[in-house]
Amino acid sequence: MQKILVVDDAELNRELLRDMLEDEFLVETAEDGERALQKLQRRQSELSALLLDLHMPKFNGFAVIEEMRRRGWMERIPVLIISSEHAVEVENRCFELGVSDFIHKPFEGSIVKNRVKNAIELFTCKLKLQQKVEEQEETLRAKDQIIQRQAQKLREAKPFNKLMLEYQSAIMEVETRLKVLNAEFSQEYNRNPFESIKSRLKTPESIYEKLERKGQPITVENVQEHLHDVAGLRVICSFPDDIYRLARLLTGQDDIILLREKDYIKEPKDNGYRSLHLILSIPIFLPAGKKYMKVEVQFRTIAMDFWASLEHKLKYKKTVDNTEEIVGQLKMCADSIEELDYRMQEIRDQIDRSHS
Ligand code: GTP
Ligand code: MG
Repeated sequence: MQKILVVDDAELNRELLRDMLEDEFLVETAEDGERALQKLQRRQSELSALLLDLHMPKFNGFAVIEEMRRRGWMERIPVLIISSEHAVEVENRCFELGVSDFIHKPFEGSIVKNRVKNAIELFTCKLKLQQKVEEQEETLRAKDQIIQRQAQKLREAKPFNKLMLEYQSAIMEVETRLKVLNAEFSQEYNRNPFESIKSRLKTPESIYEKLERKGQPITVENVQEHLHDVAGLRVICSFPDDIYRLARLLTGQDDIILLREKDYIKEPKDNGYRSLHLILSIPIFLPAGKKYMKVEVQFRTIAMDFWASLEHKLKYKKTVDNTEEIVGQLKMCADSIEELDYRMQEIRDQIDRSHS
C-alpha cells in the first residue's frame, strides 16, 4: 500500500481523512507543520502524497511548502491542500508554488480518494517523463563527447587532412568554373546569373556523425565512398531560370560527371524547401595525377535562400514556441516566395523584350 501523510491541526479532520483513505492507503498523520517536516525529513522517500492544511498555528501550510521548495521536496512528492479556503488568490498562489490539487472542506469520501489517487498517478507520470528526458540528455551528452573525441582524432590524422585539402581544391575548382560562366554570361547578356557563392567543408564532427549513422567505420575510403557532401557549394541565383541555365552549363562540361540530381524546385519538400541539388564528380590535379572528387552544389534564388536559412534556424532552435504554427507560416511563405520568384522573372523578361 502507498503511504500518505495527512497534516492538520484539527484531530477531527485527521481522523476523518484517515477513515476515508485507510482502505487504500497507509495513512500517517502530523498535527502541525513542524512535525510534518520532521516526518518528511525522515521518511520522505516512502511517502506517495502529502495532504496539507493551510491554516495551522505557528508553522502553517505555506511555511511547510516554502521549506519543501527550499529542500527540493516539491519535485518528489505531490502536495494536496486540504482547506476551507475558497479565495481564488489563495488557490492560485498554491498552484504557483507547485501544489498538485485542492480538496475543500467539508470532505466527501469518494472525491477525496479519487483526487489523491489522480494526483499520485499524474505525479508519477511526470516523474517518469522527467527521468526519461534526463536519461536521453545523458545519452546525448555521452554521444557528443564521443563525437568530439573522434573528431579531434580525425583532425590530427594526416591522411584525413590530405583528403580535406583535396575536397577544398574541388570546391575551388567548381567555384572557378562557375565564376568563368558568370563572366561569360554577363558579357553576352549584360547581367550576372548568380549573385554569390558560399562554400563549406563538412566539419570532422559532422563527418564522423554521418558515417556513424550510416553504420560505416571512419576511414578515408568510407568518407569518399559514402559521403557526397563533404565539399559543398551554394550558388545564389537571381532568377529561377538562371538556376537551370547555370546547372546545365556546368554539368555540360565534358570532364564533370553528374552523379545525382535532386530537384526540390520542381518537387518541393513538404515543408516548402526549394533548391536544386547536384552531386558532381569533378577532377582535381595533384602531383600524383588526376583525382575525381565528389561535390554537392545547391542552386537557389535569393528568396529561396532567405527562406531556407530561417527554416534551418527553426530546426536547430529547440525552444521555439508554437513550432507547428510557425511551420505552417513558413510553408505559406515558401508558396508566396515561389510566386514572387516567377513574377520577378516575368518582369525581367518584359524589360528584356522592351530593350531588344
Ligand atoms: P543530408 O543528410 O542532410 O545531406 O540530406 P540528404 O543526403 O537526404 O540530401 P538532401 O539533398 O535532401 O539535403 C542536403 C542538404 O540540403 C542539407 O544538408 C541542407 O543543407 C539542405 N536541405 C535539405 N532539406 C532542407 C530543408 O528542409 N530545409 C533546409 N533549410 N535545408 C535543407
Ligand atoms: Mg548534407
